[in-house]
Order: sequence, then structure tokens, then C-alpha cells
Amino acid sequence: MAAQNNAPLPDGLEIAGYRIVKKIASGGFSIVYLAYDAEGNAVAIKEYLPSQLALRAPGELAPSVSKPNLAVFRIGLKCFFEEGRALARIVHPNVVRVVNFFRAHETVYMVMAYESGHTLQDHIARLHARGSRMSETSIRQLFKGVCAGVREVHANKLLHLDLKPANIYLRVDGSPLLLDFGAARQTINIDAPMLAPMYTPGFAAPELYSKVATLGPWTDIYSIGAAMYACMTRSMPPAVEARRQEDKTEAQFAKLAGSYSPELVEMVRSCMALDPLARPQSVFAMQKVLQAPPTLAPQHEDDDGEPARPGGWRGLVGRLGGIGRKA
Ligand SMILES: Nc1ncnc2c1ncn2[C@@H]1O[C@H](COP(=O)(O)OP(=O)(O)OP(=O)(O)O)[C@@H](O)[C@H]1O
Ligand SMILES: [Mg+2]
Repeated sequence: MAAQNNAPLPDGLEIAGYRIVKKIASGGFSIVYLAYDAEGNAVAIKEYLPSQLALRAPGELAPSVSKPNLAVFRIGLKCFFEEGRALARIVHPNVVRVVNFFRAHETVYMVMAYESGHTLQDHIARLHARGSRMSETSIRQLFKGVCAGVREVHANKLLHLDLKPANIYLRVDGSPLLLDFGAARQTINIDAPMLAPMYTPGFAAPELYSKVATLGPWTDIYSIGAAMYACMTRSMPPAVEARRQEDKTEAQFAKLAGSYSPELVEMVRSCMALDPLARPQSVFAMQKVLQAPPTLAPQHEDDDGEPARPGGWRGLVGRLGGIGRKA
């Protein structure tokens, strides 16, 4: 993602009834602030500020947008607003809660309930540093929550399109929350070349790079599979182009077979199929697999590096049958 070089709003600024405490993150399209509302509740405010199109020097509030960039800036602004409105309708424990959005400083702000926690990306990095990996139980638990959130998004006729560990936030209690629907917003308008979304290689499905392929729930399903792969291998999944040259995921899946149940490995493999038709076609199909007890006792270590307790797995129930769409 492009870096954000713009100056953030100053700490302590009052804006539309909120008081900015500090900047908490910034990306190529936006800056996120911690703020308080009039009742003293913490909120996260996301400011639309595409760094390629808008400039803001320290001490200024409104960004300046050069004339040639203005039309594209405005299209993005409208999409940011519309996306915020669509998201505001979704009330689900695994989807970030949008509570308000407003215009100010010639741009747009999306107000979300503030959640304390950290990203799944940070979590994977910490586990990696400790030399441990996520257990089957933790992965199932986590991705049940992710799938519940994505299912709700799909039920609202939206696609996320940028699911990856950096956009999956873990609350302090470990429950996941989907963040950052920016890519969905940017694909709304394909006539805005300068706002073309920058998908994250490794997590982006092949059809996102195609002008003719149809996007659908299967596109997010590829990314969920890739995020599970990242949790299991603690490494970035290879980009689609690299996979087309030489697919190294097969060797990884073979290695993972010693640590995770065959159903889980098989589900991740099918989610990451380059052919959209070979993937599970709905999140519901994935939920069924995640909920069924694993068939075999995987010889894995849990999140703290402790060996898994034998006998913790039971049943011959979890079957993958039927999760792929019939061609
Ligand atoms: N509701 C929230 N509560 C707490 N922190 C949040 C919240 N929303 C976002 N953040 C923080 O801001 C970071 C960036 O958020 P997000 O992924 O939405 O934006 P981004 O990647 O910078 O977006 P863009 O790609 O549009 O520039 C998150 O990793 C998280 O640390
Ligand atoms: Mg993000």
C-alpha cells in the first residue's frame, strides 16, 4: 500500500462533536484516529485522505487537491461515503461497527466503535517470534468468527475484497472483527484509475486481477483460505502469479498434514484454488467444515508451544463433501 505522507489532524482537535486524541494508524487512502464522543466513549475515526491525490501540510485541516486530481478525489469520496452507509447497516459482532459518518475539512470521516486489540498479522508475528504456531482449535475458533462476519457482509450484498491478517482485528478476548472495507469501496467505480485498489499479493484471488472474471463470495473465500494458510504456516501465501509459475503451496499443505487435521488442510487448499469454481462457493459451506469435529488427532503444538493433548479430537464426522460448487 502507498505510504501516507500527509500531516494528521492535530491532537485535541474538536470535529463534529468528537475530540481527536491521536492518530493510531495511516495507510495510502486514509488516516485512523482515536477520539472521544460527547459522552466520553472512545471511537475510531477514519479520514478519507488518498495520499496520491491529496496533500495536507502540518497545521492545515483541509487537504489541497490539484485540479487534475479533483474529479478522481471526488469519486473516491463519494464511494467512501456510500461504503460507510452500507457498512452502517451491518450490526454484527464480527464486523466493525460504523456509528456515524460526516463531512468536514472538504473530506469525509467514518466513525467506528473503538475496539482495543491488535491485528491478526501482529498476532502471527508474535507467535512466530516465540517459535509457536496456532493450534487447530484456535484456528477453528478464530475463523468461525471471521466466517460469521463475512457471511453477514455477503448477506448484505457486499464483498470485502481485502481480507487479510492486517484487516482482521483481534479483540482482547480473542474474538475477531473485520476491518477496512476500502477495497470494496474502490471497486465500486472502475472508472477511477488513480484509485485502483492495491490488493495484497498472496491474499488476493486471481479474478481480482482480471477484467472479465466475475467477483463473488468465492473471491473473499480465497482470501479467508489464504489468511488461514498464513496462520498455519506463519508465512505469506505466495502470490497468484508465482503460483502459476510454480505452485509451492502443495509442498506446504503436505507439511501441514502433520500438524492439522486433513479436513482443515483440505479446506484451506480448496479455498485457495486458483479456479473460482473449485472453491467452496459460500461461507456457509466453510462454517460447516469448521464446526464439525476433526477426524484425526493432529500431532501439533498449540499456541503456547505445548504439545496437543492426545484424545482431544474425536469422531469421523468432519467431511469435506459438498463444499465445492458443482461445475
Ligand atoms: N474500530 C477500530 N478500533 C480500533 N482500532 C482501529 C479501528 N479501525 C481501525 N483501527 C486501527 O487502524 C488500523 C488501520 O485500519 P484499517 O485497516 O481500517 O485502515 P488502513 O489499512 O489504513 O486503510 P486504507 O487501506 O483504506 O488506507 C488497524 O490496523 C487498527 O490498528
Ligand atoms: Mg487495513
